[in-house]
Amino acid sequence: MRGKFISVEGLDGCGKSTQVRLLARWLRRMGHEVVVTEEPTDGLIGRIIRMVVAGGFKVPVAAEALLFAADRLHHVERVIAPAVSSGKVVISDRYIASSLAYQSARGLPLRWVMKINEMAPEPDLMILIDVPAEVTAGRINRSRRPDGFERDLELQKKVRQVYLNIARRYKMKVIDGNRPVDEVQEDIRRWVKRLL
Ligand code: TYD
Repeated sequence: MRGKFISVEGLDGCGKSTQVRLLARWLRRMGHEVVVTEEPTDGLIGRIIRMVVAGGFKVPVAAEALLFAADRLHHVERVIAPAVSSGKVVISDRYIASSLAYQSARGLPLRWVMKINEMAPEPDLMILIDVPAEVTAGRINRSRRPDGFERDLELQKKVRQVYLNIARRYKMKVIDGNRPVDEVQEDIRRWVKRLL
């Protein structure tokens, strides 16, 4: 029996990891086998990406986009596809929409970013936790030192705009993330219930 593949998207500091953790716990309580995973991955290509994003190496933006796309295909083959085909629910913290939003906000044509991601299968459900960039920046500054793309408020604003622009085309479920954690979680569960 085929499982389900859910991706959770949003700006850095939107609350994705907390929401993913709560969703996984709830699904497990209902008896589902759940795999929680993330991009960039902890695999070979993902580790290269982390070094690039941290600012240690300068790589052309297009090369960076290709690294994200390559990491994704590796992720699908290694983690996502095997788990889904054995009936599990896979929740990925970031997936294709992150590339569309971040890499096009960094100046690349959206169509080209779509093209290099064509081989990656679309999730069964894409959730966007939408929070204004000023709010995520405030949250990050209060909790830790911002790193990589997080430091750039203008970039985060553009990323949010692209996420919202592509939401309809990709049938992403847009959830207002500027609310208490449990309210956001309730909305996410409502969409996931419909899927299962
Ligand atoms: P992030 O989810 O913040 O990883 P971590 O919290 O473990 O450091 O991802 C790192 C950055 O990479 C983040 O700012 C978003 C960016 N990113 C892209 O630009 N494109 C992509 O395709 C993905 C998956 C992430």
